[in-house]
Amino acid sequence: MTRHPVAPSIAAAAVLVLATTGLVGYARATGPATPATGATPEQPPAQKTEAVRPSYTPPSDSDIPSGPFGDMIRLGEAIFHDTQHNAKGFVGNDLQCSNCHIDRGRQPNSAPLGAAYLLYPAYRTKNAHVNTFQERLQGCFRYSMNGKAPPLNDKVLVALESYAYFLAKGGPTGVVVKGQGYPKLKAPDQPADYDRGAKAYAQHCSLCHGADGAGQKSADGQTVFPPLWGARSFNWGAGMASINNAAGFIKANMPLGLGGSLTDQEAWDIATYMDSQERPQDPRFVDSVAETRKRFHDEPTSKYGLVVNGVLLGEKSPPSGTISAAD
Ligand code: HEC
Ligand code: HEC
Repeated sequence: MTRHPVAPSIAAAAVLVLATTGLVGYARATGPATPATGATPEQPPAQKTEAVRPSYTPPSDSDIPSGPFGDMIRLGEAIFHDTQHNAKGFVGNDLQCSNCHIDRGRQPNSAPLGAAYLLYPAYRTKNAHVNTFQERLQGCFRYSMNGKAPPLNDKVLVALESYAYFLAKGGPTGVVVKGQGYPKLKAPDQPADYDRGAKAYAQHCSLCHGADGAGQKSADGQTVFPPLWGARSFNWGAGMASINNAAGFIKANMPLGLGGSLTDQEAWDIATYMDSQERPQDPRFVDSVAETRKRFHDEPTSKYGLVVNGVLLGEKSPPSGTISAAD
């Protein structure tokens, strides 16, 4: 058998990741219902407290090497920041990756890209197998971008992966670092409430995102404030359609520039309001709204398939994967 110089360390890393994820995956399988929309990769128990996690800072743009590798990293950054133009054929809404992963995927507590890369390959409950990083990215296009997954090894995925690989430089492999993912907020003191959320939304969010959640465009049609719901936003299968993810994102990052200013209760209420609005259909839709809820949304963090204000959410959803409308 020929010896491969890299294989042993990769194999060791994979075994480590598998071991930790496998354990937690097992615990989850026997524990309470897990969010059907998945979450960050499973995390080893010892790393659960933010305070004990190692910190790491992604390299800066000026560290991008020259030559073909650097070109690929720069292309990935361009795709991440202007997904609309640079990955056009795969996008079916008005969002950019960097709308939800602030500062071009560098901002802590905004699911920064480098911190994510360090955790892959990883087991995901969303599709119940160990995912490569490229597979993880495919899901972002299908759900968050309401589009179509680029095929594995498509230049779009290779470029995004190269950018993430670059941002992960110097970070500890297989370890949850400080600021990874979105913060997991403690359950609210009072049950999250749609009406309180509507009021807080009007006060803190509608100025930019609009009273109808549709966001705002400039005169030349560029999206200035991205849509939070409706036909041009993320679809029902997206991570942000889960109230827990949305609450963590909102608490840490919104209102833009004032992250951390809302109370946890406000973040939960607003997330509940935002995720109780119609948005493009879940691309995994099977048979009926009820069946789709049962299979993919049967947990308290999803309002899909429930009646809110007399509306059965999911029944009048605009279609998912509306790529052509994005042009
Ligand atoms: C000052 C304007 C402003 C305010 C106020 C504001 N946002 Fe945002 N929001 C933005 C911008 C701009 C982005 C995109 C950030 C980027 O690309 O760097 C964004 C992104 C988002 C996103 C992710 C992208 C999407 O469309 O789904 C969500 C969710 C969001 N905001 C929710 C909220 C909520 C909830 C509030 C109120 C608590 C709020 N925002 C207040 C400007 C604002
Ligand atoms: C509407 C907001 C939104 C948009 C747009 C978005 N994402 Fe995400 N992303 C999320 C949320 C929420 C999560 C975490 C929840 C989950 O795993 O489903 C996440 C998770 C991730 C992760 C894993 C993070 C980790 O630490 O495990 C990666 C990588 C990622 N997104 C990449 C992308 C890329 C690339 C794009 C553009 C093609 C994109 N995302 C677009 C909201 C978004």
